[in-house]
Amino acid sequence: MAIAIYPGSFDPITYGHIDIVRRAKKLFSKLYIAVVANPHKSPLFTVEKRVEITQAALEEAGINGLEVISFDGLLVECARIHNADAIVRGLRANSDFEYEFQMALTNRDLAPEFESVFFMTAGKYSFLSSSIVKEVCMYGGDVSTFVPSSVERAIKERITRP
Ligand code: PNS
Repeated sequence: MAIAIYPGSFDPITYGHIDIVRRAKKLFSKLYIAVVANPHKSPLFTVEKRVEITQAALEEAGINGLEVISFDGLLVECARIHNADAIVRGLRANSDFEYEFQMALTNRDLAPEFESVFFMTAGKYSFLSSSIVKEVCMYGGDVSTFVPSSVERAIKERITRP
């Protein structure tokens, strides 16, 4: 079975990401979660904190045997370093397609040896994003159905103690 890398901002990880992890884990012998150091959007958490939160969330969700890493620069370079065969991404609604298509074809152009593999999220998470979770949490809403409790605590802590 092949090695895969699941990259993202994970700012922070949600049940939507965790759903993709569970699906990908069934197909690959090794799965890395790769947290990008410098996402496009300015992140709420540092990369070190995002790695820590991701590890705690996976543990809370009872998922083990994964390695959470961080990377800076091109994803394909990180994939090469870790001997990955595939790049995993999740798809929610139609609106994700164009962005994912562009990234997958760019990555294929840069490094044809990697296949991009997409998993459809569970319908109940098809609206969910890290941005929505942060917004709801900032206004005091209940995010317990969106993220594990360790993630909720981390957001609240970050909001009250910036
Ligand atoms: O969770 P996100 O923010 O949608 O993840 C985007 C991510 C991290 C996968 C993407 O921005 C990325 O791969 N960044 C690394 C830089 C890179 O390799 N760019 C070229 C491919 S588009």
